[in-house]
Amino acid sequence: MRSPLIAGNWKMNGSLALVEQFGEAFADANVPPDVSIALMLPFPYLAVAQRALSGTPMAWGGQTLHDQRSGAFTGEVSGSMLVEFGARYVLIGHSERRAMFHEDDAAVLARVSAALDVGLTPVVCVGETLAEREAGRTEDVVLKQVDVVFSGIDAEARERLVIAYEPVWAIGTGKTASPDQAQAIHASIRAHVEQYSVALAAGLHVLYGGSMKAANAAELLAQPDIDGGLIGGASLQVDEFLAICQSAG
Ligand code: G3P
Repeated sequence: MRSPLIAGNWKMNGSLALVEQFGEAFADANVPPDVSIALMLPFPYLAVAQRALSGTPMAWGGQTLHDQRSGAFTGEVSGSMLVEFGARYVLIGHSERRAMFHEDDAAVLARVSAALDVGLTPVVCVGETLAEREAGRTEDVVLKQVDVVFSGIDAEARERLVIAYEPVWAIGTGKTASPDQAQAIHASIRAHVEQYSVALAAGLHVLYGGSMKAANAAELLAQPDIDGGLIGGASLQVDEFLAICQSAG
């Protein structure tokens, strides 16, 4: 019912040569037809992605966007600019953006609206810190982050969101949430979204992110409420990322 989405988040890593390498490798890679694949790239690489990834099963997107369409916002990039480069997705509210670039709930919602306005699919990142988990606040924190977005947009827009659950303590640490831990919170997110619409909840893609790699992907992706992955470090190696895509099929 929910075909998997495997998305790589290069963060501030990679190179033009690596985009080309992915383009060549995925042009004739054996990826399961029902698996959607995307790379969330640094802005300067989008033009090359548009050429090198066209004709592969891979889509691409940005890692953030500004909430305004244009204007005096030095250093920022708008959704319509991402669309000009063929982007289909954009990450919003990644924990690194929330923590290091002061993106609060209002900023996350404004960016989601801006992305939807130009036809991008927002991949909204949610997740608790280690301190929040240890204080038994995981569900509170995550479900509130989900509500901020779902309660701020209309029913039609809600259908276009993807959620990525990324426990902050598992990002870049090598500590993956166990399949049971991840499944539990994914199921809570889906159950919570039922208050907006049961059909919406049933169709919602909830990706897992946090030290996912080829060695643990199959077990995580086998969980009934894990609908794909958002992969950081392991998305920078062609073979590793391809193996994750293959294990999703
Ligand atoms: O957005 C992906 C992410 O934050 C996970 O990173 O390196 O733990 O896979 P990593």
